[in-house]
Amino acid sequence: MEKVEWDDVQRLVLSGYPKLPFSAYVFWHFVPGEIGVAKKWLRRLSDRLTRATASGGQQAINLALTAHGLEHLRVSEKVLNDFSLEFLEGMAPKPTAETKFPRRSNVLGDTGDSSPEFWEWGGWKESQSIDGMLLLYAADETKLRSFVDAEIEAMGDVAAPAVRRNGKPLIIGGRIYDDRKEHFGFTDGISQPLIEGSPRTTRNGRKRTSDNDHNKRLTPEERRILLVKPGEFVLGYKNERRSSIFDVSGVKAEGSVDIRHNGTYLVFRQLEQDVPAFNEFVAKTAERVYGRTDEPAQEMIASQLVGRTRQGHPLVPIERRAGASPRNDFLYHFEDRFGMACPIGAHIRRANPRDTIGPDADTALRLSKMHRIIRRGRPYGERLSEDGANGEAARGMSFIALNADIAGQFEMIQHSWLNNTHFGGLYAGTDPLGHFSCPGDVASIQDRPNNHHIDRSRPFVRVRGGAYFFLPGIEAVRALAR
Ligand code: HEM
Repeated sequence: MEKVEWDDVQRLVLSGYPKLPFSAYVFWHFVPGEIGVAKKWLRRLSDRLTRATASGGQQAINLALTAHGLEHLRVSEKVLNDFSLEFLEGMAPKPTAETKFPRRSNVLGDTGDSSPEFWEWGGWKESQSIDGMLLLYAADETKLRSFVDAEIEAMGDVAAPAVRRNGKPLIIGGRIYDDRKEHFGFTDGISQPLIEGSPRTTRNGRKRTSDNDHNKRLTPEERRILLVKPGEFVLGYKNERRSSIFDVSGVKAEGSVDIRHNGTYLVFRQLEQDVPAFNEFVAKTAERVYGRTDEPAQEMIASQLVGRTRQGHPLVPIERRAGASPRNDFLYHFEDRFGMACPIGAHIRRANPRDTIGPDADTALRLSKMHRIIRRGRPYGERLSEDGANGEAARGMSFIALNADIAGQFEMIQHSWLNNTHFGGLYAGTDPLGHFSCPGDVASIQDRPNNHHIDRSRPFVRVRGGAYFFLPGIEAVRALAR
């Protein structure tokens, strides 16, 4: 088994920092000036970055850079060109005379209200570029606030927080609530790929707490379903195609560092959620499908849109052990091929079809492992109150995905599965939690004697901004600082 140099990898790859539930994403740009001073700041920052092998602590810090940020640091064109096209191009390349609607926005389905034309940041109207992002995590709100202030102060004259179109600083929050629920009311962060050979962070035999706990003793079935080769998430290692995104042999010769080594790509999307509209849709659909709007009927519909109950239990028929955390060792092909339990178009079935999209179940499972992402997103904004009085307040998901190949992983999932009206043999409809919809969009629920197709004329999610980043290894940050 290939050994990853975990000590050189930033911790976000292995952990969503569940014990540090308060976070802030500080987007910044370099201030024109002496490059040497900028490099000094970066060098000092590299000493503070939280490594994958670190444990505990009251706070954590990780750093991600955009292609523009790398350019500013004088990375040569030759080296830059080793990065993927989508990273270099960015999430929302501006339209030109030839391409009025750039291909990348088309691929992502960033159209209509979610078009980069209307983004609060990172979109087409921005004159200022984003060079990087600090990901700051703390145990409580007060600690987070002083952490953010200290890091901004440490930027000195070298860098400054970017601003939104409305002139406000571009610092987006993130919060894991005690019940781990996102704004639509579902437990999140359950299903993650497990990286083969990732370090044991706890002692053998300790009760497993979540799928992020790499120490758990996996059953053969769990290994088969969940383990994914490191190269899908860390550059420089073998992936599920048994090749590496780049050939690392020799790249570190003569003291030179390949700055991609031990790094990964980070996708950030600010996804605003219209919770009142989602709740209204759930109630309306319960009435349509079950002829009633009581809580059990609404809960059933809500879970059919996601593919898990609000508590996180999968809808596919699999034994639910009393008091145990939600299971993730399930498949669809033999258990629920026709979507009678978990609708084919449900969010989690689209986002990770497991063993369903391919010539046979085994091949399909192998193929789906080539299109996994590690999700590190968290809700931002205050929760909708019981009386709905704060319904107008902005809230959503600070969506973060990590992957070695943005086009083959994040973009593939978004384009070919979530936004696909013909996903899994369906003939209409897109992801019920997605930002993209098309004329005649429906949510489909398979049932006997007939299926239900419920109009979903507009999405409950809207993209407000986003960018592609690179999350470098620690040595790479030091090399950039030289
Ligand atoms: C506001 C938008 C979104 C919300 C509220 C949301 C919510 C959820 C929830 C509740 C789950 C189930 C819990 C879990 O397995 O951890 C889930 C799973 C997942 N989501 Fe999302 N999600 C959103 C956007 C996205 C996007 C944009 C993508 C990818 C492009 C995505 C990819 C996934 C994946 C891969 C899974 C795990 C599926 C599995 O392995 O079974 N999600 N999401």
